Amino acid sequence: MYVCACVNMMKTKSDLLLQAYIEEHIEDEPKLLKELRRQAHLTLLRPRMLSGHLQGRILKMFMQMIRPEHVLEIGTYTGYSALCIAEGLPDGSLLDTIEINDELENKILSFFNASEHGKKIKLHIGDALEIIPTFPYSFDAVFMDGNKRHYKAYYEACLGKLRQGGYIFADNTLWDGHVVDEEIRRNDQQTKGIMEFNDMVKNDPRVEVVILPIRDGISVIRVK
Ligand SMILES: C[S@@+](CC[C@H](N)C(=O)[O-])C[C@H]1O[C@@H](n2cnc3c(N)ncnc32)[C@H](O)[C@@H]1O
Repeated sequence: MYVCACVNMMKTKSDLLLQAYIEEHIEDEPKLLKELRRQAHLTLLRPRMLSGHLQGRILKMFMQMIRPEHVLEIGTYTGYSALCIAEGLPDGSLLDTIEINDELENKILSFFNASEHGKKIKLHIGDALEIIPTFPYSFDAVFMDGNKRHYKAYYEACLGKLRQGGYIFADNTLWDGHVVDEEIRRNDQQTKGIMEFNDMVKNDPRVEVVILPIRDGISVIRVK
């Protein structure tokens, strides 16, 4: 079934039909984001890393539901998810997004500048683990989507900056279904990183968590 299908797994015909059906029956993907996705497929390695139509609309809706003032994103890549988050933010709110790869800076900024929501986003180039402690304010929500091996470290850094009742949305927490694949679990560092993260969150009394089996898995973590 599509909602449980992880991004890189072979999708069956019915998965693809269901995916198309869902995308036809949710809010349209904005034109600029379609163009961003097209360019990413033409010019970038691993374009599947970007959130895409369904997940992007979900991120926007999460923001409309919680109406945060300050949001943090770890892992900007092309800026696709940042633009979806910004679209859901009230005027006057700010998304700080951090990307470690400085070669992406010009591409990201060109899309932020082309969007009416770009003014709600501040891009930081560097390592999230170094930048997070420097923010002078706390966050209402975090979208965690950086290097899967460092999720535990991002999590601790973010918890120190999140207000009570704030949320972390952690992407890829089912990691292509690898979390339940015995062979891959033993040998792959990214899978190990995600599994240790999921175990840590489940056993952390400071938070409550659900995992949404959408796309590659999104954990919704609430600070008690
Ligand atoms: C999965 S992509 C992000 C996709 C994007 N959030 C979206 O949904 O459109 C992960 C990005 O995290 C960046 N990254 C990895 N480690 C990082 C770190 N320590 N700090 C900031 N960015 C990092 C990578 O360079 C990559 O561009």
